[in-house]
Amino acid sequence: MQAPEKNLAFDLVRVTESAALSAARWLGLGNKEGGDGAAVDAMRLSFNSLDVDATVIIGEGEKDNAPMLYNGEKVGRGTGTKLDIAVDPVEGTNLLATGRPNSIAVIGACPAGTMYNPGPSYYMKKIAVGPEARNVVDLDAPVADNLMNIAKARGKDVHDLVVFVLDKPRHKQLIADIRAAGARIQLHTDGDVAGALMVADPKTGVDAMMGTGGTPEGVIAACALKGVGGQLLGRLDPQSEAEKEAIINAGINLNEILSIESLIKSEDAFFAATGISGGTFLNGVQFIGGGAITHSMVIRAKTGTLRYIESHHNWNRLMKFSAVDYS
Ligand code: FBP
Repeated sequence: MQAPEKNLAFDLVRVTESAALSAARWLGLGNKEGGDGAAVDAMRLSFNSLDVDATVIIGEGEKDNAPMLYNGEKVGRGTGTKLDIAVDPVEGTNLLATGRPNSIAVIGACPAGTMYNPGPSYYMKKIAVGPEARNVVDLDAPVADNLMNIAKARGKDVHDLVVFVLDKPRHKQLIADIRAAGARIQLHTDGDVAGALMVADPKTGVDAMMGTGGTPEGVIAACALKGVGGQLLGRLDPQSEAEKEAIINAGINLNEILSIESLIKSEDAFFAATGISGGTFLNGVQFIGGGAITHSMVIRAKTGTLRYIESHHNWNRLMKFSAVDYS
């Protein structure tokens, strides 16, 4: 294993900015694929200007369905640090297509060989909390017990808590249990990476994220929470017989409780996210005529530093050499 010495998140944020700038042109246009495609193209071109030798562990799917940023693809110049990366050029494609808040462009990275590979698993049951509650949650405990422990760890009452939950029929019981325990809920149609990031930032007012969402999104969120000292516990939660069978055939243990430590097996993890449509914790891309402003967060796990970056992009200068056309 080769340990990266520099804060690669500063390189990665240029890639998420590029994806966000391209995707934001598709805000509210009702075209999921258009926005995603633009972000994928931009991300890939930007990646190839970086001195890294990265393998996409979590990308846009299998090679045949995803011509670019597919699982197993090599990105970067092929020189320098060997990395495993997880990308989601548009996390929340529906949110982008409908102009709703919290679509983001995200990348998680860690040294080669240290990222959990979810294989054919699409869905994971998760619970995510910030640093104070990292040791008090249990994926299999009753919802009320987890909420009581989170509240205690955060010095609050249960009715002070806000839980981020994806608004899906599969969460009917979970929502009922949270309400019965006395906590409050934010229901979001999509975007549980954003949900996991919210628990790490006290300004958002979100104390926990619970429920079943994407497995790739779980690995990406683990990368971010590792940096801020939070916890994400998960277990694969196939939503169809076909998914379950594919996971078993791939030799992946369906019963394993996954944690940040098993999802990202290195302290040298990096995370970058840039807001596309805007939201409670990251503003979206603002086109200002002749340029744009982006808002990003970057995290380096080794040092635990979380930075917010506001970037002002100037088309006149950028377009003279940029491989991606943003204007
Ligand atoms: P996409 O950006 O791939 O559309 O994912 C959005 C998302 O809401 C994720 O944040 C979440 O983990 C997953 O979809 C939930 O899947 P589903 O909508 O099938 O329940």
